[in-house]
Parts: sequence; structure tokens; C-alpha cells
Amino acid sequence: MMAAVCGDLRIAYAAKTEKYEIAEMAEIVELQRNSANWVKVVDDIVRIEKKIFPKHESLARSFDEELKKKNSGLLYTQFGEEIAGYVMYSWPSSLSACITKLAVKENYRGQGLGEKLLKVAIEKCRTRNVHRVSLHVDPTRAAAMQLYKKLRFQVDTLVEGYYSSDRNAYRMYLDFDME
Ligand SMILES: CC(C)(COP(=O)(O)OP(=O)(O)OC[C@H]1O[C@@H](n2cnc3c(N)ncnc32)[C@H](O)[C@@H]1OP(=O)(O)O)[C@@H](O)C(=O)NCCC(=O)NCCS
Repeated sequence: MMAAVCGDLRIAYAAKTEKYEIAEMAEIVELQRNSANWVKVVDDIVRIEKKIFPKHESLARSFDEELKKKNSGLLYTQFGEEIAGYVMYSWPSSLSACITKLAVKENYRGQGLGEKLLKVAIEKCRTRNVHRVSLHVDPTRAAAMQLYKKLRFQVDTLVEGYYSSDRNAYRMYLDFDME
């Protein structure tokens, strides 16, 4: 019995190590406004966006405009030509920033990419000298909720009907230590 438990722990440890190796290898790239690959990156992301999110939660139709807004940024990671995940953030005021989108393509999930993307986005927000990063999440999105809690986001309030009449959101926040 003991041997079986140790074996299970070893397998879990190996899986975790492999997970972090993949995330460590992944390069997180910031999409630059005048870059030659702007159209391709945005097209690929819009395709992923349509697959992952229901219409009322998707930015597919407005992604390009959202990105062109001042004070917003997009980070993504890719393997070969394939975009595996992305995070969009903005800093509408000098006080706070928002994570407006986070997604990892299904076949790339569970490998540490979502966490890495989010951490890099948080660091980008931190460099804007804001006090707080906030976001909205459907409480039924278990993986996202776990990830936000892991990175110490706290629930601020429940916003009823945020996504649609029958879909609510938690507003969550992470405060920076401004010492
Ligand atoms: C949420 C999402 C971005 C996570 O990406 P990911 O690359 O699979 O996540 P990671 O491998 O980096 O996991 C990091 C942490 O997230 C949490 N997590 C990830 N997948 C999870 C799952 N299936 N169940 C519970 N928690 C999970 C865990 O806390 C995990 O840390 P751990 O491995 O130490 O337990 C991804 O599931 C996704 O794109 N979901 C659909 C879109 C979405 O919900 N976006 C957020 C909208 S607000």
C-alpha cells in the first residue's frame, strides 16, 4: 500500500515538473501596434475566442478595436505557428488595471501556460504604477476561479447579470503593496 502511495506521489511530482518545464519554455510575447504579424495574430485569436466563449462573453467582433484603444495590451504565447493562449489587459486609470481576457486553447491547457500568461500580465500592470488589478469571472468557470485564487485575487462582489440575464460574474481584485 505504502509503495503504491509513493508511486502515485512520484507520478504526480513528475507530471508537475513536466508541466512547469513546458511553461518555462513558453515565450510570452507582447503584440506590438505596428508589427507585421498584427493581422495574423488577431485573426488567430478571434478564431480561438469564438470557439471558447459564448457570443455574449466573446470579444471576437471587437477584438481589433479593443486592442487599438490606448492603454491596452495583449500578450500571447505560441508553439510554432500556433497560438496557444493569450491575455488582454488595460489600465483605464492611474489607479487600477483590468485583465479583460484570458484563454488557453484546449489542447494546451494544464501545462502552466494560463498561470504564466496571467503572471506576466500582472507584472505589466504593476509597471503602470496602479494600485489594483481587477477582473470579472463567471463563478462556474472552475479552472479560472482556482487560478485567480492561486494568484491571490480576492472576490470583491457578485455582479448579477454581468454576462447575460442569467449569467453573473464575480468581480475580483488583487492589490499591490505600494510601499
Ligand atoms: C482558465 C485557463 C486560462 C487556465 O489555463 P491553463 O493553462 O489550463 O492553467 P494552468 O495549467 O496554468 O494552471 C494554473 C492553475 O489554474 C488552476 N487550474 C487550471 N486548470 C484547472 C482545472 N481543470 N481545474 C481546477 N483548477 C485548474 C489551478 O489552480 C492551476 O494550478 P495547479 O496546477 O498548481 O493546481 C483555461 O482553463 C481556459 O482558457 N479556460 C477557458 C477560458 C476561461 O475560463 N478564461 C477565463 C475567463 S475569466
